[in-house]
Amino acid sequence: MTTVIDGKAAAASVIEAVTSAATTLKTSGHRKPGLAVVIVGDDPASHAYVGAKSRMAKQCGFNSIQHTLPEKTSQEQLMTLVASLNADPEIDGILVQLPLPKHLDSEPVIQSILPEKDVDGLHIVNAGKLATGDLKTGLLSCTPAGAMILVRQIHGGDLSGLNALVIGRSNLFGKPMAQLLLNANATVTIGHSRSRDLPELARQADILVAAVGRAEMVKADWLKPGATVIDVGINRVAAPEKGEGKFKLVGDVAFAECKPVAKAISPVPGGVGPMTIAMLMANTVIAAHRRAG
Ligand code: GUN
Repeated sequence: MTTVIDGKAAAASVIEAVTSAATTLKTSGHRKPGLAVVIVGDDPASHAYVGAKSRMAKQCGFNSIQHTLPEKTSQEQLMTLVASLNADPEIDGILVQLPLPKHLDSEPVIQSILPEKDVDGLHIVNAGKLATGDLKTGLLSCTPAGAMILVRQIHGGDLSGLNALVIGRSNLFGKPMAQLLLNANATVTIGHSRSRDLPELARQADILVAAVGRAEMVKADWLKPGATVIDVGINRVAAPEKGEGKFKLVGDVAFAECKPVAKAISPVPGGVGPMTIAMLMANTVIAAHRRAG
């Protein structure tokens, strides 16, 4: 029987641990962990994600602050806000929701966040620590860290001898995911849009992680029988069966046909998604503990 990986349950246990770590801080005389989430513009999907992050921060007992800036915000205004959050002693974590509107350059904004407040794990100091195998003193990118917990539920801590394929090479996910898998001793391949034969690479993979943003791209005949499949895609597609103009969310993996071939598979929604938010809360409480000394 294939295991359908329950990301909601895994996220709930992370949230329980985070909430208790936040309580420990408060009972030892420190202030609440503070998370500032910044969103620029009107993208509805980004607003939905940010709303969920802010609500979860409150639920964990954090000081949760959301800065909603208009679409026409300038680079300088955004950088000024980040500078003030860097200087704010009540704030332990800063997240600038991506993508930013087209006229803004996200890289200088992300690199201006203090590494110790970079709860997204995107600052080059944090990315560099991960790349050099230091998983202890920096902050890890949330979605890969969450996906890794799900992989470990299936395989345990050491992935020695296993072939892993990560499809997607973004700084936000593909590269840090590959590094986490490598750190756990998997043999790691990164596939992407220029790879010559993705299905053939996929057929070698004991662990397949898909993060390309193409609805149901990974098919059953791509899978090695018994593979663990982690689906990081969130794609909004038309769902005429639900009524005219209705949409549904699907992953990058054709779930129904892949499920019987896999050993374990994460669904969309309810797989990696809840883990991203849970790991953001974990990073915030870690940052708060470090700052509290
Ligand atoms: N947009 C989609 N996922 C993420 C994420 O993990 N962090 C940020 N900052 N923006 C995102």
